[in-house]
Amino acid sequence: MQTLTVPGLTMPKLGLGTFRLTGEACTLAVLGALARGYRHIDTAKMYGNEAEVGAALAQTAVPRSAIHVTTKIWPDSYAPDAMRRSVETSLEALQIDEIDLLLLHWPTPEMNLPQALETLMTLRDRGLARAIGVSNFSVALLRRTVEEIGAPIVCNQIEYHALLGRPAILEYAAAHGLAVTAYCPLARGRLSDYPELQALARKHNATPEQIGLKWLLDQPGVAAIPKAGRGTSQQANLDAQALTLDDEDRAVIAALPKDVRLVNPGWPMEWD
Ligand SMILES: NC(=O)c1ccc[n+]([C@@H]2O[C@H](COP(=O)([O-])OP(=O)(O)OC[C@H]3O[C@@H](n4cnc5c(N)ncnc54)[C@H](OP(=O)(O)O)[C@@H]3O)[C@@H](O)[C@H]2O)c1
Repeated sequence: MQTLTVPGLTMPKLGLGTFRLTGEACTLAVLGALARGYRHIDTAKMYGNEAEVGAALAQTAVPRSAIHVTTKIWPDSYAPDAMRRSVETSLEALQIDEIDLLLLHWPTPEMNLPQALETLMTLRDRGLARAIGVSNFSVALLRRTVEEIGAPIVCNQIEYHALLGRPAILEYAAAHGLAVTAYCPLARGRLSDYPELQALARKHNATPEQIGLKWLLDQPGVAAIPKAGRGTSQQANLDAQALTLDDEDRAVIAALPKDVRLVNPGWPMEWD
């Protein structure tokens, strides 16, 4: 399993997304993934499955120290007391002492960013999280966070896949030592709609999803967290790591549409 390292963070490049995995199916999916070799699990307070992820972390034979756990704080809990309670609840549900990477889930037009980041830093300093970061932040928000407020964030988790280009954020992250975690890395099933990706899949004896995933994992500073409830999907995503894409393949992927956005929180957003 390849890892990604930026100042303040080392994590496996391939993780398991868990959005919409709930109940026992979630626990079984996380247990299965850990048994197959996954060592990076992505959850969030908003997914309502931290207890089920926590049950898997408690049951697995894989030691806690070998597993990277990311969770996120929902914007309704960005005020200091609410954030502390949210993180304490997450830790309890996950049955762990420390979150490996703790993110602000979404920016909102009304959030008090300096205060939210200050609180996040305090929680990190108290030992509740090993590293802190953000999600869905534009370059302008990253600039405020890093250059004006000076918050020691290590990661921006964003929607990024073969059908959505994020060049400005990737450039900013690379220049400032931030990891980018790609969510919806498989474009939620859309990749197989494109004959170009089907052709690449045939060429590599793989699937369009594996091609799209390997394209992300090949990029320095980028991690990817496909959600996979089925064991066959989990294994296919692990196997994608062994593919070798060439410049010709990358040119085909570069020529695909880059404006397919799948996630929108429903409030005004500056995306890039
Ligand atoms: N920070 C944020 O705001 C944010 C927003 C959205 C998502 N996320 C995170 O990113 C994760 C991934 O995003 P996502 O779940 O929205 O979309 P995704 O990972 O692009 O797509 C998930 C879908 O792809 C299927 N799949 C997985 N591996 C496959 C394979 N090898 N071949 C064919 N199909 C495959 C899954 O099926 P099965 O499950 O049936 O196997 C599932 O239906 C989420 O789970 C969550 O952890 C974060």
